Amino acid sequence: MTKKLIGPFTQLLPLANLPLHGALADNVLEIIKNGGIVIEHNRIVDVGPYATLQEKYSPTITFVEIDTPAVCMPSYIDCHTHIAFGGNRANDFALRNTGATYLEIAEAGGGIWSTVQHTRDASIEELTAHIIERVNVLIKQGITTIEVKSGYGLSVEQEVKTLRAIQQAQKQVPADLVPTCLAAHMKPWDFAEDATAYLEKIATELFPILRQENLTNRIDAFVEKSAFSATEIRPYLRSAKEQGFDITVHADQFTSSGSVIAVEFGAVSADHLEASTENEIQILAKSDTVAVALPGASLGLGCAYTPARLLLDKGAILAIATDWNPGSAPMGQLMIQASILAAAEKLSNAEVFTAITSRAAKALNLYDRGQLQRGQLADFNIYATANYQNITYKQGTLLPQQVWKSGELIYT
Ligand code: NIG
Ligand code: FE
Repeated sequence: MTKKLIGPFTQLLPLANLPLHGALADNVLEIIKNGGIVIEHNRIVDVGPYATLQEKYSPTITFVEIDTPAVCMPSYIDCHTHIAFGGNRANDFALRNTGATYLEIAEAGGGIWSTVQHTRDASIEELTAHIIERVNVLIKQGITTIEVKSGYGLSVEQEVKTLRAIQQAQKQVPADLVPTCLAAHMKPWDFAEDATAYLEKIATELFPILRQENLTNRIDAFVEKSAFSATEIRPYLRSAKEQGFDITVHADQFTSSGSVIAVEFGAVSADHLEASTENEIQILAKSDTVAVALPGASLGLGCAYTPARLLLDKGAILAIATDWNPGSAPMGQLMIQASILAAAEKLSNAEVFTAITSRAAKALNLYDRGQLQRGQLADFNIYATANYQNITYKQGTLLPQQVWKSGELIYT
């Protein structure tokens, strides 16, 4: 296969070799004017000034000319979604907006449990179709790696069905899906014994199936009053870790619970953190666990944002994800949410872009994407604008004109 030179770009932002931890000012951003990118098969071969690349690689190269003005950046990574669900929770949203809390609705049988009913009722084909439809919504935003959690099955059989649906969807979409088992989303109401017995059953019966069928390498747990306590979740996470799974935790969403456990277990990420206090922020900042802000959940619930500024200033690794789910975060729009968080929390463009590229990749334990440099996957977005700042300035309404994944143009 011949190499392709793509460009010229008015501005090319490689977002490469930036530190993972801590605050980033915009002057760290390398901006290549009249830049180009050379790809071969699914990988990046070279990045630099277009004229230099043209000279270096001709005559053996194919040219893919881009209309200017154009800005090129790595494509995005949504490292936290729950898009494998059936049904709709518009009524929860209406109830919350007239005074009921998320936890009250959950206790009354709405919330996660109502989505479990709809997801269980869906056939695997229906669930697969829902996932594909939502993945396509994300691809148009320039997102080419998407984490997808189970967690609305809440039995061995139904969790397997959900993870198989994600596996089926993967065969039909050009984005990379990263599946995660969230069987510990809450104790199912129809499970007769206690939470510990439920988690033991999952660890002994479901975990081996996840391995056998290669369904996922990641285990998530919701540590919260309405879900699992620290005491209940520790043996579960220990078992997951012993069986070689990566750990991620829904932490500190309503009360400060979970992020300390996440760090204790060397979790790849601790997500939510709206209720994190100084103590948790310090612990996260000193760790390699990525702190994932989910502004879509703050917007959906009308709650506080994750203290992103403080986390960065203390030295944490900050990622931003949509948390797309039918309950707390129904929007599913990454750049809208990231730029709203940026305005609220005072985040630089460098902090926003790394939070949805290299730092989000780290949350998924992936190191082959999120930066435009030799050897990385050729995953990038092209915007019809002359100034990269317009991307956050337009607050997610400026969409990419082209989305490339693994060297292929997948959306235009
Ligand atoms: O990340 N917090 C727990 N899980 C989801 C919400 C799931 C739901 O409400 O259906 C979240 O916000
Ligand atoms: Fe979530």
